[in-house]
Amino acid sequence: MSGFDPKTAFSLNGKGALVTGGGKGIGRGVALGMARSGAQVHVLDRDLAAAEETVAMILAEGFRGKAHRMDVADEASVDSTMAEIAAESGIDILVNNAGLAIRKPTIELSVNDWDAVLKVNLTGVFLCARAAARHMIPRGTGAIVNLASIMGLSGGGLYPNISYQSTKGAVVNLTRALAVEWASHGIRVNAVAPTWVRTDFIKALTDNPDLLAKINSMTPLGRIAEIDEIVGGIVYLASPAASMVTGHTLAIDGGFLAQ
Ligand SMILES: NC(=O)c1ccc[n+]([C@@H]2O[C@H](COP(=O)([O-])OP(=O)(O)OC[C@H]3O[C@@H](n4cnc5c(N)ncnc54)[C@H](O)[C@@H]3O)[C@@H](O)[C@H]2O)c1
Repeated sequence: MSGFDPKTAFSLNGKGALVTGGGKGIGRGVALGMARSGAQVHVLDRDLAAAEETVAMILAEGFRGKAHRMDVADEASVDSTMAEIAAESGIDILVNNAGLAIRKPTIELSVNDWDAVLKVNLTGVFLCARAAARHMIPRGTGAIVNLASIMGLSGGGLYPNISYQSTKGAVVNLTRALAVEWASHGIRVNAVAPTWVRTDFIKALTDNPDLLAKINSMTPLGRIAEIDEIVGGIVYLASPAASMVTGHTLAIDGGFLAQ
């Protein structure tokens, strides 16, 4: 007989959840989704006003949330914010969502551009995961979900984006390595790899009708994703329903990688 109960399996009741880059886009969707699933959500963004807007939406629905200014690439900012949150609500869930892309032909990409993307997309994930794990390990439990991308699992091809693709590929393997390192501490580490998702992050791409048509034609389901289509996978990976899942990267891609 199965004891599976969807109400508890997908519940984040009583959990302290942190979402980096939660001020807009996918991160805002995740913050709202986790709050509705019962978590006390800490919205972390380098843009405090944006984080506060997300929290206002959470509070307006009668759920719990708090905004914090934090730059994922700033070690001191990450460590002090995490310590403050750990004391306040505990850290049960971390979603490493903040991300950056500088799309240029590789031969025109400066080292400054390269470094800027690495700092946020890779060093930021390392710094946040490390700080969170320092608080999760003594409690013997935790779930981390990283935002990778289909661009971390394929060569792309529609436009050059080398620093983004390199970092997202690295996030896939960082996810595996941290999952293995921290499994004995009860910490699960997973990632999602979305296709193009309708946010400001890709507005310059989706505003180009020819490029959007190409993206759609390269995607078996024939369209880009909406934010809420990504949120469910992230909530799932953070929830008790995924208690046996670790080191996995879940593609949410309309079949892009299945080809
Ligand atoms: N939108 C897509 O098509 C798509 C596809 C695959 C993966 N992703 C990934 O999903 C994540 C979220 O993307 P999005 O589309 O919601 O982006 P977005 O640009 O809409 O939002 C990103 C948020 O992150 C914040 N942020 C950026 N750098 C930060 C830093 N250093 N510290 C703290 N906050 C910072 C921004 O202020 C913003 O609120 C990124 O990691 C991105 O790479 C996006």
